[in-house]
Amino acid sequence: MQKNAEEILKQLTLDEKIGMVHGAELFRTAGVERLGIPPLVMSDGPMGVRQEFEPDCWKPMGGNDDFVTYLPCNSALASTWNPGLAHEMGSVLGEEARGRGKDVILAPGVNIKRTPLCGRNFEYFSEDPYLTKKMAASCIQGIQQWDVAACVKHFAVNNQEVQRMSVDVEIEEQVLRKIYLPAFQEAIEKGGSYSIMGAYNQLYGEHCCQSDFLLRKILREEWGYDGVVISDWGGVHDTKAGAESQLDIEMSVTDHFDQYFLAEPLKEKIQSGEISEKVLDEKVLRILNLMIRLHMLDGQRKKGSYNTAEHRQKALEAARESMVLLKNEDNILPLKKETLKRVLVIGENADCVHSNGGGSAEIKALYEITPLMGLKTHLGGNTEITYVKGYCREEKQEKGSVNWQETSLEEGGAAGTEEKESMALAQKREALRKEAVSLAETYETVIYVGGLNHELDCENQDRPDMKLPYRQDLLIQELLAVRPDMTIVMMGGSPVEMGSWIAQAKSLVWCWYAGMEGGNALAEVLLGEINPSGKLPETFYKTHTDCSAHALGEYPGGRSVAYKEGRYVGYRYNDKFQVEPEFCFGYGLSYTTFSCCDPAWNREKNQICCKIKNTGNRYGGEVLQLYRRDGEDELFQELAGFEKVFLEAGEEKQVVFQLEEESSESCKYGIGSSSRDIYLEVE
Ligand code: BGC
Repeated sequence: MQKNAEEILKQLTLDEKIGMVHGAELFRTAGVERLGIPPLVMSDGPMGVRQEFEPDCWKPMGGNDDFVTYLPCNSALASTWNPGLAHEMGSVLGEEARGRGKDVILAPGVNIKRTPLCGRNFEYFSEDPYLTKKMAASCIQGIQQWDVAACVKHFAVNNQEVQRMSVDVEIEEQVLRKIYLPAFQEAIEKGGSYSIMGAYNQLYGEHCCQSDFLLRKILREEWGYDGVVISDWGGVHDTKAGAESQLDIEMSVTDHFDQYFLAEPLKEKIQSGEISEKVLDEKVLRILNLMIRLHMLDGQRKKGSYNTAEHRQKALEAARESMVLLKNEDNILPLKKETLKRVLVIGENADCVHSNGGGSAEIKALYEITPLMGLKTHLGGNTEITYVKGYCREEKQEKGSVNWQETSLEEGGAAGTEEKESMALAQKREALRKEAVSLAETYETVIYVGGLNHELDCENQDRPDMKLPYRQDLLIQELLAVRPDMTIVMMGGSPVEMGSWIAQAKSLVWCWYAGMEGGNALAEVLLGEINPSGKLPETFYKTHTDCSAHALGEYPGGRSVAYKEGRYVGYRYNDKFQVEPEFCFGYGLSYTTFSCCDPAWNREKNQICCKIKNTGNRYGGEVLQLYRRDGEDELFQELAGFEKVFLEAGEEKQVVFQLEEESSESCKYGIGSSSRDIYLEVE
């Protein structure tokens, strides 16, 4: 018989309650066996359920039972602009977490991309609060249908990795509320997230994991949140502040579990009367209620599963929709499969797996189809495919057995530094480049697959700039000089500078880290089996100083960082200050064409609608985007709605945008295929 949380609480001793509010292992709290209360077991996401670690040190268990489905990263998922897919990805993550015996999956990451240099951008959705909140809420609903708690993170303004443990964010409260909080609020109110993770950094002089302003005033009082607040690993700094804040569980990276602030030190302060036991009881109640919500106490819990064929199929579907076609002059894509006789594939990323890197988001993927493997399986032996590296990273010495996470508190986030190229490495790269360029002339088709990897897109560091690493710029320039028809594919979690070659390139596909089926999805797009429908969920700046955090604000700051750019984040800045991006927010091409007509505003229903037609000759998807301009400021616009529509050639559909904010006479709306390609104006 299910008891209620209050009844259970009455039976708990002080020690038992203390055991429930702090880590007793790296990823679990203590349970209370005599009362049938299990420990709360957590694991990282967001791209899949992380491998098992030893209970008390950051050493992987090394078993063969913790391989999982590897999903597209959140940036890729956001590129689909399809909340239905976010729900599906959430569902896979939730079912796999449950299958692996987890109670809380530490995902999704919903921080706003303030700068393209942030090393964790690949874990986040977008620079835009509206797009982020829609995707995040769906993802969370998907996760939680499996009796697993989502843990939306990192609350809040965790927008850089440099000095992430300490940096104090200075931001106008109005901007905080308009840009940086809506995704968390929607995650709580619409997504119903059962838990939330505090951020490492400070806001208004308080560490977020024990912030009275964030946790009590905003989260509990304004949003009425009754779920569980979990600290980031090592994000608590003080027993009294931590205990008396609205934090519920303290987690950390060390094995001195009894010495955590909310362990023995809390017990002592309760016994001495310095802290009231009531604050502990409130936390325990919320934790018990979480367990009740997850059916952990009544034997009615759903069972999960992992590595199912269905999950792999869903990962493929999301990957397909995440690919963004950025350039396609003379319609050189798709490649004509039947005529491909000899193909040269160039670039380290063609043959590289990425799932096992990036920090806490690393995955032990059951498998990962690389671009090269994807092409080979799709061309199936009738085409000769030659692969050369073209460039290479520096081979690093193994760091021994120390996992980065063990030392992650002390390091506090070092800035990624530019690589110093040794003579030997320079020579090696030159040889690879020459080989690639000379071969490129002799093949009928040349495909380049480059970009970033998780040495750069990585937790605990930011990139020094947006430059392509490993001298790829030079390589691409030389390749384009001999092969202007070369297909270019870029992989990465954040945009890169393309100025030195983009004008010469005819085609460009951006494919993010697209999960275990990414290579298949990419091959399908290149070969035209799938019509790309992804759109950029962030501005692709020409260079990082074209981003407002760098142009108007401070980055990385010192002890504190001032968000002087205010609300002008991402495209909001580029539009208003007329700074040309390389590719704008919302941009992405298709192999077909669309047109849009008949805009109308329905005042009673607060809706805007229009018609969209596929005017080309093949099936395809378009993301119609609705931008709101406030009367006085013509240049400033914000995403206010979006709808993804799939249409057969010649087909037409009605699209309805339900407005969230009241619109007034002075409001204008634009409906477009990107933030800068507006089909229709609605007054
Ligand atoms: C990260 C969190 C992660 C936690 C546990 C921290 O370093 O910031 O996102 O969930 O570690 O691995």
